[in-house]
Amino acid sequence: MTAELIDATAYRARPGGPMTFRRFLEAACRVAEDALRFTNLNNIAPDDIESLEADLHGIETGGFSDEKVGGQYGREQMDPRRVMSREIGYRGLAALLQRDRAWTSRDILLDGLAGNGTFDRVMARICDGRPRYVGNDVSLRMASGGLQEGKLILWSDLRTPLVRDQIADYAVAAYGTHHVPPPERVRYAAALARRLRDGGTLVLQDFVQGTPSARWYSEFIHDHRSGGHPYQHFTETELRALFRQAGLRDAAVHTVFDPFVIPALPDQSDDALRQDFARYMRTLYALDRLDCDAPGAGAYAMVEPYFRVPGLDRLADGILAVQPFARDYLCEDISIRTVAGRRVLIAPRVAIAAAGTR
Ligand SMILES: C[S@@+](CC[C@H](N)C(=O)[O-])C[C@H]1O[C@@H](n2cnc3c(N)ncnc32)[C@H](O)[C@@H]1O
Repeated sequence: MTAELIDATAYRARPGGPMTFRRFLEAACRVAEDALRFTNLNNIAPDDIESLEADLHGIETGGFSDEKVGGQYGREQMDPRRVMSREIGYRGLAALLQRDRAWTSRDILLDGLAGNGTFDRVMARICDGRPRYVGNDVSLRMASGGLQEGKLILWSDLRTPLVRDQIADYAVAAYGTHHVPPPERVRYAAALARRLRDGGTLVLQDFVQGTPSARWYSEFIHDHRSGGHPYQHFTETELRALFRQAGLRDAAVHTVFDPFVIPALPDQSDDALRQDFARYMRTLYALDRLDCDAPGAGAYAMVEPYFRVPGLDRLADGILAVQPFARDYLCEDISIRTVAGRRVLIAPRVAIAAAGTR
């Protein structure tokens, strides 16, 4: 691995100029010898590649390459104990991806919002014979972080031709699709669909605008992170239209139960467990304006209203049809209970996910 990649921010100050796609790929080839075969690098004119790289560096500014946001989020996502706190949601996405056909280790899964490879990190712990993982992210910091852990994550904007078409059997975009601006979403969904082979499945996940789970991002994170978080979430109608316009067939929209499940430490009081959850939220989401430490700061009370699922009774059958393993965790408000012999805090959320076939 090159030193430049180990320090993902070095590209700004390097004497040789900014990181290039070709140099990134050299490092990627040390993780996966055949990385080049997932790209169009040799078919694009050098001038065009330069302009695509300039666009990528532009997208980076202020996003997940910011140390406070991407650095902190990335480190938390690499902590196996923490990352498994969202296992139920990720398992739901895995079930939707395999709605037409169970995957095997010969398949390829493209993660279009890879970050540093969280999806594969979770799959490695919950399934045998998972597909080969090829990630993609616009953030050099996040893509480099994944490479350091031996995950093949390409650094590109999928709306451009740097990554080849028809490389994957499954494709997913989750936990951050709201970062794609609304006018660009059709192009983004079409870009993912284009990377699928015929018969492949795309799953796109986000949160429904106006629900507590979406307002967590658009209100709470926005107000408690210095850089804000001004992104628009999704509606079911929008998701259906995206899949139609991306030419995907048999599109179906599902509600996915997506709680944080935080195991209690031995002898930890309920109150201490709740405070631990609030602290985790502050770290994971880089909430530098949320004070968890001052006496009476009340961070937990501020966080709690966003982890509610009103009308869960109405949603439960649909959820359990895809996520039967979620049964013991279903709750409308933050709850502390013992499941499979473990005392856990469950902070419920619901996501929306569309699945479609190319
Ligand atoms: C909240 S992170 C989630 C990453 C990963 N899905 C996870 O669960 O950890 C969102 C990621 O989306 C990336 N991102 C934002 N817009 C993107 C785009 N247009 N194409 C690819 N990645 C994008 C960001 O760089 C960031 O790494």
